Amino acid sequence: MAKNKNNQAIWSTRIKKKASTLFEKVGSSIDVDKRLYKEDILGSIVHVEMLFKQKIISFKIKNKIIYGLQKIEKEISKNNFEFDKKYEDIHMNIEKKLFQIIGDEAGYIHTARSRNDQVITDLKMWIKSATQEVNHNLDKIIKSTIKLAEKNVETIMPGFTHLKNAQPISLGHYFMAYVEIFKRDKKKFNNNIEILNECPLGAAALSGTSFNIDRHYTSNKLGFKNPTNNSIDTVSDRDFVLDFLFSISLCSMHISRIAEELIIWNSDGFNLIQLSDKVVTGSSIMPQKKNPDLLEYLRGKSGFAFGNLFSMLTILKGLPLSYFKDMQDDKTLVFKSYDTLINSLKVFNEILKNVSPNKERMFELADTGFITATDLADYLVKNHSMSFRKAYQKTAEIVNFAEKKRKKLKDLKIEELKKIEPKLTKEVLKIFNLKNSINSKKSYGGTSFENIKKMIMKYKRNK
Ligand code: ARG
Repeated sequence: MAKNKNNQAIWSTRIKKKASTLFEKVGSSIDVDKRLYKEDILGSIVHVEMLFKQKIISFKIKNKIIYGLQKIEKEISKNNFEFDKKYEDIHMNIEKKLFQIIGDEAGYIHTARSRNDQVITDLKMWIKSATQEVNHNLDKIIKSTIKLAEKNVETIMPGFTHLKNAQPISLGHYFMAYVEIFKRDKKKFNNNIEILNECPLGAAALSGTSFNIDRHYTSNKLGFKNPTNNSIDTVSDRDFVLDFLFSISLCSMHISRIAEELIIWNSDGFNLIQLSDKVVTGSSIMPQKKNPDLLEYLRGKSGFAFGNLFSMLTILKGLPLSYFKDMQDDKTLVFKSYDTLINSLKVFNEILKNVSPNKERMFELADTGFITATDLADYLVKNHSMSFRKAYQKTAEIVNFAEKKRKKLKDLKIEELKKIEPKLTKEVLKIFNLKNSINSKKSYGGTSFENIKKMIMKYKRNK
Protein backbone atom coordinates (compact mmCIF):
# COMPACT_ATOMS: atom_id res chain seq x y z
CA MET A 1 0.00 0.00 0.00
CA ALA A 2 1.22 3.49 -0.79
CA LYS A 3 2.48 5.49 2.14
CA ASN A 4 0.02 7.96 3.47
CA LYS A 5 1.75 10.17 5.93
CA ASN A 6 -0.91 12.45 7.20
CA ASN A 7 0.59 15.76 6.36
CA GLN A 8 1.46 14.81 2.80
CA ALA A 9 -0.48 14.89 -0.42
CA ILE A 10 -1.78 11.52 -1.61
CA TRP A 11 0.58 11.71 -4.59
CA SER A 12 3.70 12.59 -2.53
CA THR A 13 5.47 9.35 -3.51
CA ARG A 14 5.46 10.41 -7.14
CA ILE A 15 5.61 14.17 -6.81
CA LYS A 16 8.47 14.90 -4.49
CA LYS A 17 8.26 18.61 -4.08
CA LYS A 18 5.54 20.36 -2.19
CA ALA A 19 3.21 22.38 -4.41
CA SER A 20 4.08 26.07 -4.48
CA THR A 21 2.00 28.11 -2.09
CA LEU A 22 0.62 30.01 -5.02
CA PHE A 23 -0.56 26.82 -6.70
CA GLU A 24 -1.99 25.53 -3.46
CA LYS A 25 -3.97 28.74 -3.25
CA VAL A 26 -5.39 28.67 -6.76
CA GLY A 27 -5.60 24.90 -7.19
CA SER A 28 -7.51 24.21 -4.03
CA SER A 29 -11.27 24.14 -4.24
CA ILE A 30 -12.04 23.05 -0.71
CA ASP A 31 -13.56 26.40 0.28
CA VAL A 32 -16.17 25.85 -2.41
CA ASP A 33 -16.69 22.11 -2.67
CA LYS A 34 -16.85 21.39 1.05
CA ARG A 35 -20.52 22.02 0.43
CA LEU A 36 -20.64 18.58 -1.21
CA TYR A 37 -19.56 16.72 1.92
CA LYS A 38 -22.86 14.93 2.54
CA GLU A 39 -23.14 13.71 -1.03
CA ASP A 40 -19.48 12.73 -1.06
CA ILE A 41 -19.81 10.65 2.09
CA LEU A 42 -23.02 9.00 0.94
CA GLY A 43 -21.39 8.19 -2.41
CA SER A 44 -18.40 6.68 -0.64
CA ILE A 45 -20.51 4.58 1.70
CA VAL A 46 -22.50 3.12 -1.18
CA HIS A 47 -19.29 2.60 -3.12
CA VAL A 48 -17.66 0.53 -0.37
CA GLU A 49 -20.87 -1.41 0.22
CA MET A 50 -20.76 -2.34 -3.44
CA LEU A 51 -17.05 -3.23 -3.22
CA PHE A 52 -17.88 -5.58 -0.37
CA LYS A 53 -20.89 -7.09 -2.15
CA GLN A 54 -18.64 -7.76 -5.14
CA LYS A 55 -16.04 -9.36 -2.85
CA ILE A 56 -13.48 -6.69 -3.73
CA ILE A 57 -13.00 -5.66 -0.08
CA SER A 58 -13.63 -7.55 3.14
CA PHE A 59 -16.55 -7.14 5.52
CA LYS A 60 -14.23 -5.77 8.19
CA ILE A 61 -12.70 -3.13 5.96
CA LYS A 62 -16.08 -2.07 4.64
CA ASN A 63 -17.37 -1.58 8.18
CA LYS A 64 -14.29 0.28 9.29
CA ILE A 65 -14.52 2.65 6.36
CA ILE A 66 -18.20 3.28 6.91
CA TYR A 67 -17.60 3.89 10.60
CA GLY A 68 -14.89 6.43 9.74
CA LEU A 69 -17.02 8.15 7.12
CA GLN A 70 -19.94 8.50 9.49
CA LYS A 71 -17.66 9.97 12.10
CA ILE A 72 -16.36 12.46 9.56
CA GLU A 73 -19.88 13.42 8.56
CA LYS A 74 -20.76 14.17 12.16
CA GLU A 75 -17.61 16.21 12.63
CA ILE A 76 -18.27 18.28 9.53
CA SER A 77 -21.91 18.88 10.36
CA LYS A 78 -20.95 19.98 13.85
CA ASN A 79 -18.30 22.29 12.46
CA ASN A 80 -15.57 20.26 14.14
CA PHE A 81 -13.70 19.43 11.00
CA GLU A 82 -10.62 21.24 9.90
CA PHE A 83 -10.50 21.54 6.14
CA ASP A 84 -7.03 21.82 4.70
CA LYS A 85 -6.24 23.57 1.44
CA LYS A 86 -3.21 21.30 1.06
CA TYR A 87 -5.57 18.43 0.24
CA GLU A 88 -7.22 20.39 -2.53
CA ASP A 89 -10.80 19.35 -2.40
CA ILE A 90 -13.54 17.71 -0.38
CA HIS A 91 -12.71 14.22 -1.67
CA MET A 92 -9.08 14.34 -0.57
CA ASN A 93 -9.89 16.07 2.70
CA ILE A 94 -12.27 13.27 3.60
CA GLU A 95 -9.92 10.53 2.46
CA LYS A 96 -7.06 12.07 4.44
CA LYS A 97 -9.19 12.26 7.54
CA LEU A 98 -10.26 8.66 7.07
CA PHE A 99 -6.61 7.62 7.30
CA GLN A 100 -6.34 9.52 10.57
CA ILE A 101 -9.38 7.79 12.00
CA ILE A 102 -9.09 4.19 10.81
CA GLY A 103 -5.47 3.94 9.66
CA ASP A 104 -4.08 2.34 6.53
CA GLU A 105 -7.22 0.43 5.66
CA ALA A 106 -8.65 3.75 4.51
CA GLY A 107 -6.52 3.13 1.45
CA TYR A 108 -9.14 0.71 0.11
CA ILE A 109 -11.80 3.36 -0.31
CA HIS A 110 -10.52 4.63 -3.62
CA THR A 111 -10.51 1.19 -5.27
CA ALA A 112 -12.25 1.27 -8.66
CA ARG A 113 -13.06 4.95 -8.67
CA SER A 114 -11.47 8.31 -9.40
CA ARG A 115 -12.20 11.81 -8.29
CA ASN A 116 -13.33 12.34 -11.87
CA ASP A 117 -16.42 10.18 -11.47
CA GLN A 118 -16.71 10.97 -7.77
CA VAL A 119 -17.05 14.72 -8.14
CA ILE A 120 -19.81 14.60 -10.72
CA THR A 121 -21.72 11.97 -8.79
CA ASP A 122 -21.63 14.35 -5.82
CA LEU A 123 -22.60 17.35 -7.89
CA LYS A 124 -25.46 15.55 -9.62
CA MET A 125 -26.85 14.47 -6.26
CA TRP A 126 -26.42 18.00 -4.95
CA ILE A 127 -28.27 19.48 -7.93
CA LYS A 128 -31.09 17.01 -7.38
CA SER A 129 -31.71 18.19 -3.85
CA ALA A 130 -31.09 21.82 -4.81
CA THR A 131 -33.83 21.39 -7.42
CA GLN A 132 -36.21 20.28 -4.70
CA GLU A 133 -35.41 23.41 -2.73
CA VAL A 134 -35.98 25.57 -5.81
CA ASN A 135 -39.32 23.83 -6.40
CA HIS A 136 -40.29 24.34 -2.80
CA ASN A 137 -39.67 28.07 -3.12
CA LEU A 138 -41.45 28.21 -6.47
CA ASP A 139 -44.44 26.50 -4.85
CA LYS A 140 -44.57 29.22 -2.23
CA ILE A 141 -44.54 31.88 -4.94
CA ILE A 142 -47.26 30.08 -6.88
CA LYS A 143 -49.37 29.91 -3.75
CA SER A 144 -48.94 33.61 -2.95
CA THR A 145 -49.70 34.53 -6.55
CA ILE A 146 -52.86 32.43 -6.67
CA LYS A 147 -53.97 34.16 -3.46
CA LEU A 148 -53.46 37.54 -5.10
CA ALA A 149 -55.30 36.37 -8.20
CA GLU A 150 -58.20 35.12 -6.12
CA LYS A 151 -58.57 38.49 -4.44
CA ASN A 152 -58.46 40.32 -7.73
CA VAL A 153 -60.61 38.36 -10.17
CA GLU A 154 -62.88 41.37 -10.55
CA THR A 155 -60.20 44.05 -10.38
CA ILE A 156 -60.20 45.76 -13.74
CA MET A 157 -57.00 47.10 -15.20
CA PRO A 158 -55.69 48.12 -18.59
CA GLY A 159 -53.93 45.37 -20.50
CA PHE A 160 -50.98 46.85 -22.35
CA THR A 161 -49.14 46.07 -25.52
CA HIS A 162 -46.13 48.30 -26.20
CA LEU A 163 -47.00 49.73 -22.79
CA LYS A 164 -49.98 51.48 -24.45
CA ASN A 165 -53.52 50.70 -23.40
CA ALA A 166 -54.65 47.72 -25.45
CA GLN A 167 -57.66 45.88 -24.00
CA PRO A 168 -59.18 45.76 -20.53
CA ILE A 169 -58.24 42.75 -18.42
CA SER A 170 -58.66 41.38 -14.94
CA LEU A 171 -55.73 41.81 -12.56
CA GLY A 172 -56.48 38.26 -11.42
CA HIS A 173 -55.79 37.11 -14.96
CA TYR A 174 -52.49 38.95 -14.86
CA PHE A 175 -51.42 37.24 -11.67
CA MET A 176 -52.45 33.89 -13.12
CA ALA A 177 -50.04 34.61 -15.96
CA TYR A 178 -47.27 34.70 -13.38
CA VAL A 179 -48.51 31.35 -12.07
CA GLU A 180 -48.10 29.83 -15.54
CA ILE A 181 -44.58 31.21 -15.76
CA PHE A 182 -43.47 29.73 -12.45
CA LYS A 183 -45.18 26.43 -13.12
CA ARG A 184 -43.22 26.26 -16.34
CA ASP A 185 -40.02 27.01 -14.45
CA LYS A 186 -40.75 24.08 -12.17
CA LYS A 187 -41.24 21.82 -15.15
CA LYS A 188 -37.98 23.00 -16.61
CA PHE A 189 -36.05 22.25 -13.44
CA ASN A 190 -37.74 18.86 -13.16
CA ASN A 191 -37.07 17.98 -16.79
CA ASN A 192 -33.38 18.53 -16.13
CA ILE A 193 -33.49 15.77 -13.55
CA GLU A 194 -34.77 13.34 -16.19
CA ILE A 195 -31.61 13.92 -18.20
CA LEU A 196 -29.25 14.13 -15.25
CA ASN A 197 -30.54 10.95 -13.67
CA GLU A 198 -27.68 8.67 -14.74
CA CYS A 199 -25.05 7.75 -12.18
CA PRO A 200 -21.42 8.51 -13.11
CA LEU A 201 -19.86 6.41 -10.33
CA GLY A 202 -17.69 3.64 -11.73
CA ALA A 203 -16.58 5.47 -14.87
CA ALA A 204 -13.43 6.02 -12.80
CA ALA A 205 -10.76 8.22 -14.39
CA LEU A 206 -12.10 7.90 -17.93
CA SER A 207 -12.04 4.29 -19.11
CA GLY A 208 -13.96 2.34 -16.49
CA THR A 209 -12.27 -0.18 -14.23
CA SER A 210 -10.86 -3.69 -14.29
CA PHE A 211 -12.53 -4.47 -10.96
CA ASN A 212 -15.77 -6.42 -11.12
CA ILE A 213 -17.94 -3.57 -9.86
CA ASP A 214 -21.74 -3.38 -9.94
CA ARG A 215 -22.66 0.02 -11.30
CA HIS A 216 -26.37 -0.74 -11.32
CA TYR A 217 -26.23 -1.34 -7.59
CA THR A 218 -24.53 2.00 -6.80
CA SER A 219 -26.75 3.86 -9.24
CA ASN A 220 -29.85 2.43 -7.65
CA LYS A 221 -28.69 3.00 -4.07
CA LEU A 222 -27.82 6.61 -4.83
CA GLY A 223 -31.24 7.26 -6.32
CA PHE A 224 -30.32 7.38 -9.99
CA LYS A 225 -32.29 5.70 -12.74
CA ASN A 226 -29.32 4.03 -14.50
CA PRO A 227 -25.57 4.16 -14.63
CA THR A 228 -24.16 6.30 -17.45
CA ASN A 229 -23.36 4.37 -20.64
CA ASN A 230 -19.95 5.58 -21.70
CA SER A 231 -17.10 6.20 -19.30
CA ILE A 232 -15.44 8.86 -21.45
CA ASP A 233 -18.62 10.83 -21.96
CA THR A 234 -19.35 10.49 -18.26
CA VAL A 235 -16.26 12.27 -16.99
CA SER A 236 -16.46 14.91 -19.74
CA ASP A 237 -20.12 15.78 -19.39
CA ARG A 238 -21.16 18.98 -17.68
CA ASP A 239 -24.41 19.42 -19.62
CA PHE A 240 -26.32 18.89 -16.41
CA VAL A 241 -24.49 21.88 -14.96
CA LEU A 242 -25.43 23.99 -17.97
CA ASP A 243 -29.05 22.86 -17.76
CA PHE A 244 -29.20 23.90 -14.13
CA LEU A 245 -27.51 27.24 -14.80
CA PHE A 246 -29.81 27.85 -17.75
CA SER A 247 -32.94 27.07 -15.76
CA ILE A 248 -31.76 29.43 -13.05
CA SER A 249 -31.15 32.09 -15.70
CA LEU A 250 -34.59 31.55 -17.14
CA CYS A 251 -36.28 31.77 -13.77
CA SER A 252 -34.23 34.87 -12.85
CA MET A 253 -35.17 36.44 -16.16
CA HIS A 254 -38.83 35.83 -15.36
CA ILE A 255 -38.44 37.42 -11.97
CA SER A 256 -36.62 40.31 -13.59
CA ARG A 257 -39.44 40.94 -16.07
CA ILE A 258 -42.06 40.88 -13.37
CA ALA A 259 -39.93 43.09 -11.13
CA GLU A 260 -39.62 45.64 -13.93
CA GLU A 261 -43.33 45.48 -14.52
CA LEU A 262 -44.09 46.11 -10.87
CA ILE A 263 -41.56 48.96 -10.82
CA ILE A 264 -43.44 50.57 -13.71
CA TRP A 265 -46.80 50.02 -12.06
CA ASN A 266 -45.43 51.49 -8.85
CA SER A 267 -44.08 54.62 -10.57
CA ASP A 268 -45.90 57.88 -9.87
CA GLY A 269 -46.90 58.10 -13.53
CA PHE A 270 -48.78 54.79 -13.47
CA ASN A 271 -49.53 54.52 -9.77
CA LEU A 272 -51.30 51.18 -10.24
CA ILE A 273 -49.92 49.42 -7.18
CA GLN A 274 -48.88 50.14 -3.64
CA LEU A 275 -45.88 48.51 -1.98
CA SER A 276 -46.01 48.27 1.78
CA ASP A 277 -43.30 49.95 3.84
CA LYS A 278 -41.76 46.53 4.46
CA VAL A 279 -40.40 46.32 0.93
CA VAL A 280 -39.41 49.88 0.07
CA THR A 281 -36.53 52.10 1.09
CA GLY A 282 -36.20 55.83 1.63
CA SER A 283 -33.85 58.40 0.16
CA SER A 284 -31.01 60.06 2.04
CA ILE A 285 -31.95 63.46 0.67
CA MET A 286 -35.57 63.37 -0.56
CA PRO A 287 -37.80 62.94 2.46
CA GLN A 288 -40.91 62.01 0.47
CA LYS A 289 -39.40 58.98 -1.26
CA LYS A 290 -40.44 55.34 -1.05
CA ASN A 291 -38.30 53.50 -3.55
CA PRO A 292 -38.86 49.96 -4.85
CA ASP A 293 -35.24 48.98 -4.18
CA LEU A 294 -35.99 45.32 -3.58
CA LEU A 295 -37.63 45.00 -6.97
CA GLU A 296 -34.63 46.64 -8.53
CA TYR A 297 -32.40 44.19 -6.68
CA LEU A 298 -34.38 41.33 -8.23
CA ARG A 299 -34.28 42.87 -11.69
CA GLY A 300 -30.51 43.19 -11.51
CA LYS A 301 -29.79 39.71 -10.21
CA SER A 302 -30.68 38.10 -13.54
CA GLY A 303 -27.48 39.57 -14.96
CA PHE A 304 -25.57 37.58 -12.40
CA ALA A 305 -27.26 34.32 -13.41
CA PHE A 306 -26.69 34.90 -17.14
CA GLY A 307 -23.03 35.67 -16.43
CA ASN A 308 -22.54 32.36 -14.65
CA LEU A 309 -24.24 30.46 -17.47
CA PHE A 310 -21.96 32.11 -20.01
CA SER A 311 -18.90 31.47 -17.87
CA MET A 312 -19.66 27.76 -17.87
CA LEU A 313 -20.38 27.66 -21.60
CA THR A 314 -17.08 29.42 -22.21
CA ILE A 315 -15.15 27.10 -19.91
CA LEU A 316 -16.44 24.10 -21.85
CA LYS A 317 -16.07 25.56 -25.31
CA GLY A 318 -13.19 23.89 -27.12
CA LEU A 319 -12.35 21.62 -24.17
CA PRO A 320 -11.43 18.14 -25.42
CA LEU A 321 -13.21 15.18 -23.84
CA SER A 322 -12.42 13.69 -20.41
CA TYR A 323 -11.40 15.58 -17.29
CA PHE A 324 -9.58 18.88 -17.10
CA LYS A 325 -9.03 21.18 -14.17
CA ASP A 326 -10.91 23.88 -16.08
CA MET A 327 -14.11 22.16 -15.06
CA GLN A 328 -13.46 22.53 -11.34
CA ASP A 329 -15.06 25.99 -11.43
CA ASP A 330 -18.43 24.49 -12.29
CA LYS A 331 -19.22 24.26 -8.60
CA THR A 332 -18.45 27.89 -7.86
CA LEU A 333 -20.88 28.90 -10.61
CA VAL A 334 -23.57 26.44 -9.58
CA PHE A 335 -23.48 27.42 -5.91
CA LYS A 336 -23.44 31.15 -6.62
CA SER A 337 -26.29 30.98 -9.09
CA TYR A 338 -28.30 28.74 -6.80
CA ASP A 339 -27.80 30.88 -3.69
CA THR A 340 -28.73 34.00 -5.60
CA LEU A 341 -31.85 32.40 -7.04
CA ILE A 342 -33.05 31.07 -3.69
CA ASN A 343 -32.54 34.51 -2.24
CA SER A 344 -34.42 36.14 -5.12
CA LEU A 345 -37.30 33.70 -4.80
CA LYS A 346 -37.61 34.48 -1.11
CA VAL A 347 -37.46 38.22 -1.68
CA PHE A 348 -39.97 37.95 -4.49
CA ASN A 349 -42.40 36.00 -2.34
CA GLU A 350 -42.11 38.67 0.32
CA ILE A 351 -42.92 41.31 -2.26
CA LEU A 352 -45.98 39.40 -3.41
CA LYS A 353 -47.22 39.47 0.16
CA ASN A 354 -46.68 43.21 0.34
CA VAL A 355 -48.20 44.45 -2.88
CA SER A 356 -51.72 45.75 -3.28
CA PRO A 357 -53.51 47.21 -6.29
CA ASN A 358 -54.77 50.78 -6.43
CA LYS A 359 -58.09 49.56 -7.78
CA GLU A 360 -59.61 52.95 -8.53
CA ARG A 361 -56.55 54.12 -10.39
CA MET A 362 -56.42 50.86 -12.32
CA PHE A 363 -59.98 51.32 -13.42
CA GLU A 364 -59.42 54.98 -14.26
CA LEU A 365 -56.43 54.16 -16.45
CA ALA A 366 -58.28 51.26 -18.05
CA ASP A 367 -60.99 53.69 -18.97
CA THR A 368 -58.70 55.72 -21.23
CA GLY A 369 -57.00 55.20 -24.56
CA PHE A 370 -60.10 53.95 -26.42
CA ILE A 371 -59.39 50.59 -24.84
CA THR A 372 -62.67 48.99 -26.01
CA ALA A 373 -62.05 49.72 -29.70
CA THR A 374 -61.47 46.04 -30.51
CA ASP A 375 -64.77 45.19 -28.81
CA LEU A 376 -66.53 47.63 -31.13
CA ALA A 377 -64.89 46.10 -34.20
CA ASP A 378 -65.89 42.60 -33.01
CA TYR A 379 -69.45 43.86 -32.42
CA LEU A 380 -69.71 45.17 -35.97
CA VAL A 381 -68.54 41.81 -37.32
CA LYS A 382 -71.03 39.87 -35.22
CA ASN A 383 -74.06 42.13 -35.54
CA HIS A 384 -73.76 43.91 -38.86
CA SER A 385 -72.17 41.20 -40.97
CA MET A 386 -68.99 43.04 -41.77
CA SER A 387 -65.60 41.50 -42.41
CA PHE A 388 -63.17 42.13 -39.57
CA ARG A 389 -61.04 44.42 -41.76
CA LYS A 390 -64.06 46.54 -42.69
CA ALA A 391 -65.15 46.70 -39.05
CA TYR A 392 -61.61 47.65 -38.03
CA GLN A 393 -61.67 50.63 -40.43
CA LYS A 394 -65.11 51.80 -39.26
CA THR A 395 -63.94 51.58 -35.65
CA ALA A 396 -60.75 53.51 -36.44
CA GLU A 397 -62.95 56.27 -37.92
CA ILE A 398 -65.02 56.33 -34.76
CA VAL A 399 -61.85 56.50 -32.61
CA ASN A 400 -60.52 59.37 -34.73
CA PHE A 401 -63.80 61.18 -34.28
CA ALA A 402 -63.82 60.67 -30.50
CA GLU A 403 -60.22 61.80 -30.25
CA LYS A 404 -61.03 64.99 -32.17
CA LYS A 405 -63.98 65.66 -29.89
CA ARG A 406 -61.83 64.79 -26.83
CA LYS A 407 -64.41 62.22 -25.76
CA LYS A 408 -64.21 58.65 -24.56
CA LEU A 409 -65.91 56.05 -26.76
CA LYS A 410 -68.53 55.46 -24.08
CA ASP A 411 -69.39 59.19 -24.05
CA LEU A 412 -70.23 59.37 -27.75
CA LYS A 413 -73.90 59.91 -28.58
CA ILE A 414 -75.64 57.29 -30.66
CA GLU A 415 -76.35 60.01 -33.25
CA GLU A 416 -72.62 60.72 -33.53
CA LEU A 417 -71.89 57.03 -33.99
CA LYS A 418 -74.63 56.67 -36.57
CA LYS A 419 -73.08 59.43 -38.70
CA ILE A 420 -70.11 57.15 -39.20
CA GLU A 421 -71.98 53.81 -39.25
CA PRO A 422 -75.73 54.24 -39.86
CA LYS A 423 -76.50 50.60 -39.03
CA LEU A 424 -75.56 51.12 -35.38
CA THR A 425 -78.30 51.18 -32.73
CA LYS A 426 -78.31 52.16 -29.06
CA GLU A 427 -77.49 48.58 -28.15
CA VAL A 428 -73.87 49.20 -29.17
CA LEU A 429 -73.23 51.39 -26.12
CA LYS A 430 -72.96 48.37 -23.79
CA ILE A 431 -69.86 47.37 -25.74
CA PHE A 432 -67.89 50.20 -24.15
CA ASN A 433 -68.40 48.83 -20.67
CA LEU A 434 -65.06 47.52 -19.39
CA LYS A 435 -66.53 44.67 -17.38
CA ASN A 436 -68.61 43.51 -20.37
CA SER A 437 -65.50 43.62 -22.50
CA ILE A 438 -63.56 41.46 -20.05
CA ASN A 439 -66.37 38.95 -19.61
CA SER A 440 -66.79 38.57 -23.34
CA LYS A 441 -63.30 37.04 -23.51
CA LYS A 442 -64.53 33.55 -22.77
CA SER A 443 -62.22 31.74 -25.16
CA TYR A 444 -60.07 29.15 -23.35
CA GLY A 445 -57.31 31.01 -21.54
CA GLY A 446 -59.05 34.38 -21.97
CA THR A 447 -59.59 36.99 -19.27
CA SER A 448 -63.32 36.52 -18.41
CA PHE A 449 -63.98 36.35 -14.67
CA GLU A 450 -65.44 32.86 -15.04
CA ASN A 451 -62.36 31.58 -16.83
CA ILE A 452 -60.08 32.90 -14.13
CA LYS A 453 -62.17 31.43 -11.33
CA LYS A 454 -62.13 28.04 -13.02
CA MET A 455 -58.38 28.15 -13.48
CA ILE A 456 -57.81 29.15 -9.86
CA MET A 457 -60.04 26.27 -8.70
CA LYS A 458 -58.19 23.86 -10.93
CA TYR A 459 -54.78 24.89 -9.64
CA LYS A 460 -55.91 24.88 -6.05
CA ARG A 461 -57.23 21.36 -6.47
CA ASN A 462 -54.35 19.63 -8.21
CA LYS A 463 -51.54 22.10 -7.44
N1 ARG B 1 -11.82 18.97 -7.34
C1 ARG B 1 -11.85 18.41 -8.64
C2 ARG B 1 -12.95 19.10 -9.43
O1 ARG B 1 -13.84 19.59 -8.84
C3 ARG B 1 -12.16 16.95 -8.57
C4 ARG B 1 -11.71 16.18 -9.75
C5 ARG B 1 -10.22 16.15 -9.77
N2 ARG B 1 -9.67 15.28 -10.74
C6 ARG B 1 -8.44 15.43 -11.17
N3 ARG B 1 -8.03 14.55 -12.03
N4 ARG B 1 -7.68 16.41 -10.83
O2 ARG B 1 -12.91 19.16 -10.63
